Amino acid sequence: MSKLNNILTNFKNMPVDGMTKTLFVAITLCLVCSMVVSFAAVNLKEVQEVNKAIDKQKNILQVAGLYYEGIDVEKSFSSFEPIVVDLNQGKFTNRFDPLTFDDKKAAQDPQLSISLKEDPASIGRRTNFATVYLLKKEDGSLDKVILPIHGYGLWSTLYGFIALEKNGNDIFGLQFYQHAETPGLGAEVDNPKWKAQWKGKKINNDSGELMITVAKTQKYKEHHIDALAGATLTSNGVDNLVKFWMGEAGFKKFLTNLQNGAA
Ligand SMILES: Cc1cc2nc3c(=O)[nH]c(=O)nc-3n(C[C@H](O)[C@H](O)[C@H](O)COP(=O)(O)O)c2cc1C
Repeated sequence: MSKLNNILTNFKNMPVDGMTKTLFVAITLCLVCSMVVSFAAVNLKEVQEVNKAIDKQKNILQVAGLYYEGIDVEKSFSSFEPIVVDLNQGKFTNRFDPLTFDDKKAAQDPQLSISLKEDPASIGRRTNFATVYLLKKEDGSLDKVILPIHGYGLWSTLYGFIALEKNGNDIFGLQFYQHAETPGLGAEVDNPKWKAQWKGKKINNDSGELMITVAKTQKYKEHHIDALAGATLTSNGVDNLVKFWMGEAGFKKFLTNLQNGAA
């Protein structure tokens, strides 16, 4: 006990601006701060997960034109049926619970994804299973289908949704919920005016060829989206990713099956 008292007394008598006291204060401060940060990270993880899920639901409502300020997101989201699609078969699967299935994690899992040889969207691997959201009318018939899409822009991978009308070809909307493109340039993908262009555009032509294009110059009005001014590289990324996910390696098989009642 007296030894401890001696150490404390010696410590007290040390100069305040000496090496020992400075180091002691710095190390104690680091330890306390790291404990506070770890405590917050662990305890807030659950809240963050819930907020992430609500944000995703909000984005799905937005892309389907059903989001208004002040609505109960969880309640409104109940009009959607989440369902997992096997992209290789182009069919629904009940192998996974759509409420807990994580498309992003699946894309990293070699058992649940494929490595892409042709990779226009620069995503490296493509999940074999994706969660889609069916919006049904009151009579139970299909109204819209919401598909997850992602791909590389200039600085980041853009994650979003595309909403299609029940014919699987007419676009209702497109919305990104995560990216790190530059504000005022690539981040203009979030500009409501730019997003409004997608409504009514057709993915394929009457012969079933993939035609939707984001470009500076317009070739076919019904398939054309104007590239963002000063952000051609992000625009090219969006062009590539939309073509990828609407094409053979993406949802094309599923969308065809959905039309034929074979999904
Ligand atoms: C700091 C900085 C940030 C930029 N961010 C983006 C971006 O997010 N998306 C993009 O396409 N281009 C961005 N650019 C511009 C590109 O380098 C390139 O000039 C542009 O995509 C060409 O588009 P334009 O042909 O429409 O001018 C950025 C440039 C700078 C200097």
